[in-house]
Amino acid sequence: MPEICQTGAPEALAGSVADLPNDFPADFIWGLATSAYQIEGATELDGRGPCIWDTFASKPGAIADGSSGAVACEHYQRLDSDLDLLQACGARAYRFSIAWPRVQPDGKGAWNEAGWAFYQRLLDGLAKRGIQAHLTLYHWDLPQALQDEGGWAARSTAQYFAAYAAQAGRRFGAQVASIATLNEPWVVATLGHESGIFAPGIKDRAIAMQVAHNLLLAHGLALQALRAQGGPALLGIVLNQAPVQPASDTLADRAKAQLEDGLLVRWYMDALFKGAYPADVLEHLGQDAPHTEAGDMALISAPLDFLGLNYYTRNLVSAQQAGAPDSSGSRRAAQYEVTDMGWEVYPQGLHTLLLRLARDWDTPPLYVTENGAAYADVLQQGRVHDVERCRYLQMHIGAMRQAMQDGADVRAYFAWSWMDNFEWAFGYSKRFGLVYVDYASQQRYLKDSAYWYRDWIMAQHQAALAA
Ligand code: FCB
Repeated sequence: MPEICQTGAPEALAGSVADLPNDFPADFIWGLATSAYQIEGATELDGRGPCIWDTFASKPGAIADGSSGAVACEHYQRLDSDLDLLQACGARAYRFSIAWPRVQPDGKGAWNEAGWAFYQRLLDGLAKRGIQAHLTLYHWDLPQALQDEGGWAARSTAQYFAAYAAQAGRRFGAQVASIATLNEPWVVATLGHESGIFAPGIKDRAIAMQVAHNLLLAHGLALQALRAQGGPALLGIVLNQAPVQPASDTLADRAKAQLEDGLLVRWYMDALFKGAYPADVLEHLGQDAPHTEAGDMALISAPLDFLGLNYYTRNLVSAQQAGAPDSSGSRRAAQYEVTDMGWEVYPQGLHTLLLRLARDWDTPPLYVTENGAAYADVLQQGRVHDVERCRYLQMHIGAMRQAMQDGADVRAYFAWSWMDNFEWAFGYSKRFGLVYVDYASQQRYLKDSAYWYRDWIMAQHQAALAA
């Protein structure tokens, strides 16, 4: 165990491993998740090109604390000791993303071998420690050079993405357990191009919906290229989803919830698993509906090996809300327990969501690729007693287990996030980590939740061995 880790189980936690069912399938995957821009830093090292988040973060007011991912957790420079830390956290699987501008600075043309070498070292380090690698190809850091040519609003970006995906597959396809093409296309399209609160900061619904289509097309083209290689890695996509519920029983609130469900859930699920966009949403969009070409929907709906879901909270919608959605797409009433993001703690939503997906679409096995909570953690004598996060994880794991018992085929769970990091428009002001990062010193400290999760994973492993 590296010296940066605190050892010894925390004294008191809310709930304990014993409170949760110990009967997960032996091959259930337990992991931790991050993304490149949020932890790597080193945005100008070894030939990495600029990305849209570098540009966006430099705009005054775009990031709550005026920060950027330039330094982040210095994971790029600290890879080896961080991998020891990951092992100390008990992770059996690790979900990470490749920064496209690190391996192809302009998003097309020349590859940057120094960038590929970093991820090869990461994969070697994971293999050496017996940790499964789960790769995401795009977690929001589009090369700026492609944005300058129209970004995701341009169809050509989908082609460039497929070429990058094919290259990543050729190099790493045999070394990773799974490859997800995109992380949360809804966020990229809607928060990046309609609300404009995320990079690239555009506020135009018609562009946002074209982006939503081009992203799915990029997914389809990448999938086709990866399938053609025939490697062993399981192929899928990661969506952010939630049950969308009306804030009251009025007709207006119910209609609004139906539409929001269409935009967040059915738009992506219908395209991927039915090969068509939902008619009610297309009608609502009118002129803002995207331009599609013959063959697009067939590409988009090609079979997947897994579907990744990121779940944080439910979406409660009311007809009175105007404007584009906020970061969670949701509004909450004050009486609910919320996290430091203001997001309601609603574990039963994960149960509802998993069962609904299994019921309404012909889905492949489901992975919970992100689940977790931000709290205003306090470091005291090297410890962080994050009781609420422990409870949050336990309740959501419990809800997921219940969904499995009720028929959902869930194969993996990744806690978000392995360590505190750059939380997009919130900068470093929100801490989602199971590991605390002291940004001034770059020291890492396991929070109580990390000890709990480590023990939980170990207990699952032992139960599986004993069975
Ligand atoms: C998800 C993102 C992830 C992180 C969490 C809190 O939408 O995929 O990078 O920011 O939210």
